[in-house]
Amino acid sequence: MFENFNISPLLKEEEIKSRVAELGAELTEKFKDKKAIAICVLKGSIMFYSDLIREIKTDLVCEFLAVSSYGNSTKSTGEVKLTLDLNNPIEGRDVIIIEDIVDTGLTLNYLVNNLKSRNPKSLTTCSLLFKPDALKVECSIDHVGFKIPNDFVVGYGLDYQGHYRNLPYIGQVKSLN
Ligand code: IMP
Ligand code: MG
Repeated sequence: MFENFNISPLLKEEEIKSRVAELGAELTEKFKDKKAIAICVLKGSIMFYSDLIREIKTDLVCEFLAVSSYGNSTKSTGEVKLTLDLNNPIEGRDVIIIEDIVDTGLTLNYLVNNLKSRNPKSLTTCSLLFKPDALKVECSIDHVGFKIPNDFVVGYGLDYQGHYRNLPYIGQVKSLN
């Protein structure tokens, strides 16, 4: 799609599927007998979220929010903005934030602080991907799918300038034009 854009596979569809099933089992155990609110962080988490919630075999409700932090770049601008808020209050509820990736940690850190101020009963964080070497701020991720190297990745919901979200696997970007 982009010239000089080379994507090398990092996580295959099957690997993602089986890890998502494991995460689903962990969350099923944690939230059995509870009616959790599962929050999808748009847009990057769409694939992970829709696969993961089907692996959580307990009653839950779905909510969506959106944040922007990257503009059109592959580097974080450091500024996080809530561009779409939840439709319902979360006060007194068990909440799970479902993220695609934690890079600098700024987004998750912002979301945790923002949602905590609404007084949920509990707040659990889950991210499919985590780049430990890119972390800039303290941020606790309760459930992590894969730790990955500090390279830009696309696919399975993750984009570069809006593209590549529909790749069924996750690939590492080798060169940018
Ligand atoms: P953070 O605030 O730096 O942790 O970045 C979090 C957000 O940036 C994620 O929710 C993604 O939307 C985006 N992001 C971070 N790293 C990547 C990447 O390698 N590929 C695509 N999007 C990324
Ligand atoms: Mg995101």
